[in-house]
Amino acid sequence: MGDASERGDEAWTARSQVPSVLVVDDEQVTRAVLTDFLSQEGYKVWTVDDARSALALMQRERIDLVLSGLCLPEMSGLDLLRELKESHPFTVALIMTAYPSVETATQAMKLGAFDYLQKPFKIQDVMLAVRRGLTQQRLRSENIELRAALSLYQLASRMSTSLELLPNLRLIAETVQEQTRATGVHVILFPRNEIMWDGVNLGDPLTEEDLTEETLALTTAVVVDEAHLPHYIEQNERTKRLLSVVIVPLFQQEEHFGVLIASSTQRNFWERDRKLLTIIADRASAAVQSAQLFEALERSFRHTIEALVTALEEKDPYTAGHSERVALYARLTAERLGLPPHETELIYQAGRLHDIGKLTIRSDELNKPTGLTPDEVRRFRLHPVYGEELLGAIPTFKALLPAIGGHHENYDGTGYPRGLKGKEIPLMARIMAVADSYDAMTSHRAYRKALPHAFAVEELKACSGTQYDPHIVAAFLLAIEDWRKKRIEAGLDVPA
Ligand SMILES: [Fe+2]
Repeated sequence: MGDASERGDEAWTARSQVPSVLVVDDEQVTRAVLTDFLSQEGYKVWTVDDARSALALMQRERIDLVLSGLCLPEMSGLDLLRELKESHPFTVALIMTAYPSVETATQAMKLGAFDYLQKPFKIQDVMLAVRRGLTQQRLRSENIELRAALSLYQLASRMSTSLELLPNLRLIAETVQEQTRATGVHVILFPRNEIMWDGVNLGDPLTEEDLTEETLALTTAVVVDEAHLPHYIEQNERTKRLLSVVIVPLFQQEEHFGVLIASSTQRNFWERDRKLLTIIADRASAAVQSAQLFEALERSFRHTIEALVTALEEKDPYTAGHSERVALYARLTAERLGLPPHETELIYQAGRLHDIGKLTIRSDELNKPTGLTPDEVRRFRLHPVYGEELLGAIPTFKALLPAIGGHHENYDGTGYPRGLKGKEIPLMARIMAVADSYDAMTSHRAYRKALPHAFAVEELKACSGTQYDPHIVAAFLLAIEDWRKKRIEAGLDVPA
């Protein structure tokens, strides 16, 4: 099977292993001499007589340094360099030739050759070049490891700024792609139990249907080569071009909830890729877990808010329906102002909750027809602040706080609780103030009956520029007339 753990890797563990050198030359004598000396130096030595065999061997074995002849049958040493640059960027290559020319030397160096040796060579020169090449290889490996570590660090810090699942899974997939040069990265989440999200596919998609029983039964990460792919991935139109994959099962406690897969149509994966993906898969599991917790929290909070709105309306019968109407008027105004859908929805939600802080005020005070004491007035005027405190602890509601805290501020700075002025008052709050006042006037209150629509309109106009933002009043009046007209045409109720 295609498990790479027994066959070593490229850079990841290079320092802890004996360096391995591959000699590619069609002269038997050259191969024998070099094998002899390189073995004496303590290197693990492989030999082949052509470039294709070299590439085939490198699919199976970790090679740190290639020592290759220039003129080889079929595929030249330069062609080999070209391939290595693409498929084995961690490996260092040295070129040997009996017929040197400036052109080929330049070309070899351009293709990434580390050095260029002229035959017949002095063996000590070759050994020196090999030693220098291996030092270069080690530096390259360390550099790659550092880059991988940095990229994991960046991934962790970028993920911690968001609780949303899909953007986090996408970050994970991008990191895998960047680090492994995979042509496809797939996070497949099984649609069962609590998981209801889509996964993420970069490159050609893979789905759960493409996975075999063997893949679904995996408990640890595996690297799969081309020969063993059919055991793990169903062969079909989507998958037939794949050359190699790394599959990491995703677990949360005992539950196997998905897989992270890096796939490639161009390269073979190695142990390094498996290790890297195992680390990254942990982040994917954590992201799914956080998103699940967050969603459960949000769901329960929404239920709580529904309950709070109901409780507020029961406590204060005069505001029954008020929050919903304010929400509606505020949304109509926001739409008329041309705000984007996401913001108009926020404004609607804020309207439903704008008076939620009144829950903290005693019922007898709230429903007193007249004559609040100065202390009661002071408490009442703090209800926007109580509302902010109540909702401020939950991230989902953070975006609503400006509307809740500022809906009793006046444009000229005479409002409460903070006495903000003009554009200091958040836009959402300026909208809320107009919607709230209109509904307060046109609905029954504890201390008076509903006032007519026409009166409310005149009052808003009269206070435009002092109590209210004139820009908002203008938008509100257009929006409300439009709304009334449509409702009247449809035979529905409107404020008289
Ligand atoms: Fe209020």
